[in-house]
Amino acid sequence: MGKNNGKDFTSFIQEAGLIWGPSPEIYGGLAGFYTYGPLGKLLKNKVENSVRRTFNENGFREIEGPTVLPNEVWKASGHLDTFVDRTIKCKKCSAIFRADKLIEENHDVSADTFSDKEVLSFLKKHKIKCPTCKGEFNEKIERQSLMMKTVVGGKEASLRPETATGTYLPFLRYYNYFRKKLPFGVFQIGKAYRNEISPRQSVLRGREFTQAEGQIFIDPKEKNKWEGYGKVKGEKLPFWSEEEQKKGKHSGGLTSIEEALKKKLIKSEVYGWAIWLAYTQFKNFGIPLERIRLRQHHKDEKAFYADDAWDIELNLNNYGWTEVCGIHDRTDYDLVEHSKASGIKLEAQRENGEKFVPHVIEIAFGTDRPTYSLIDLFYEKKEEGDGKTTFKLPYHMSPIDLSIFPLMKKEGLIDLSEEIKNDLQKHFVVDYDSSGSIGKRYLRSATSGIPYAITIDYDSLQDKKVTLRDRDTQEQKRIEISELGNILKSLFNDEKNFLDLN
Ligand code: GLY
Repeated sequence: MGKNNGKDFTSFIQEAGLIWGPSPEIYGGLAGFYTYGPLGKLLKNKVENSVRRTFNENGFREIEGPTVLPNEVWKASGHLDTFVDRTIKCKKCSAIFRADKLIEENHDVSADTFSDKEVLSFLKKHKIKCPTCKGEFNEKIERQSLMMKTVVGGKEASLRPETATGTYLPFLRYYNYFRKKLPFGVFQIGKAYRNEISPRQSVLRGREFTQAEGQIFIDPKEKNKWEGYGKVKGEKLPFWSEEEQKKGKHSGGLTSIEEALKKKLIKSEVYGWAIWLAYTQFKNFGIPLERIRLRQHHKDEKAFYADDAWDIELNLNNYGWTEVCGIHDRTDYDLVEHSKASGIKLEAQRENGEKFVPHVIEIAFGTDRPTYSLIDLFYEKKEEGDGKTTFKLPYHMSPIDLSIFPLMKKEGLIDLSEEIKNDLQKHFVVDYDSSGSIGKRYLRSATSGIPYAITIDYDSLQDKKVTLRDRDTQEQKRIEISELGNILKSLFNDEKNFLDLN
């Protein structure tokens, strides 16, 4: 597992074609906007498809709404008036920073809960200076809206700061589609925009980013009768409650979901299941468990719409504990507010004819932060001398599955290699490389995190076998060409172990 890699890491993510920016680079870049290079985009696709599969397999259905909505929506949702960050200005160079982040970047505390006065005195006490010019800060906290505003057909509108709000608006459409039966789940994957103040943490704090947010619509009377709860209630998760946070660091201890509900750390079965689903997704990405914790929001830190609220945080090499997912019980807040503002009742009906406003449990993933986290956690710095940079992504999350190398650029070898490539790329993402020494090609392939390399040599023309090489063990096996596809599938599905291949 990688160490804190600073500059080497920054050059690696650029040179490997993972993340470039701020974009557009040739114009000096606009902070908070990035381009995923070819390797980065493939990795982000894997992350996104993994979240998509998790939602689909757990009964959610996907929709796609617009990224721009009129401001009356954002007025009703509360974003227009209250979605703000606290800022502070440098007296010397006038640069503006997010006040809570200045604290969190230097100290392992969450400043979300600090009053303005506490923020100012913390900055003073710890002598935190302007990161740009080392100047002193003004003694005043200001507020800046995070909404990106625009005008459409003469009407004021904003780019969405979350997909969730746009998922709530067609509630009556879903209600009909799901044959007037609750609960049901709907998710959206797509871009969202926030006018972040001085973002400096690559895609961890982009102004344009991708969210993957799932919403469960449920009768409030059914929140403790959730069908999936029985199967997961015994699962032990790294809950870190508000009370424990006040005592210091997370002990690393695990609490079962059932116990968390009994202790009132969480309020409902459906919420416990939602936390389990989100946590399982990070396990499925292959994130080491000791790098994951669940942090409860403090009472005065919760978003304006949230009742129960926990974040999943990952311990990154470059930025320490970082929020990567939020699980919120948004109660009936959104549907009530949009009913009031639109004049359309967003309600459901029980079998006995009683009308009610459904509650919403939200699982809010992004896909940029998990993508960045995989790079951060599985990159290992090149050691001095003849050491190698490694990128040991979990095999199933590697952006490219296979490299194919004809040993020499000779006709027979090229023809056979292309035949194999055409066959395998129906099922796998394949990189084809016919130039340079075979040693260098293996190295390039491993630096891109590619789990397997296939070499076609002169013997292959006779015995119809190729050499399959494993990235981490560097072991090699001769494999029948006709068996390659099936063997690779079972290796990726963990049904076979490389070392056991004949
Ligand atoms: N929809 C929740 C969030 O954007 O964090």
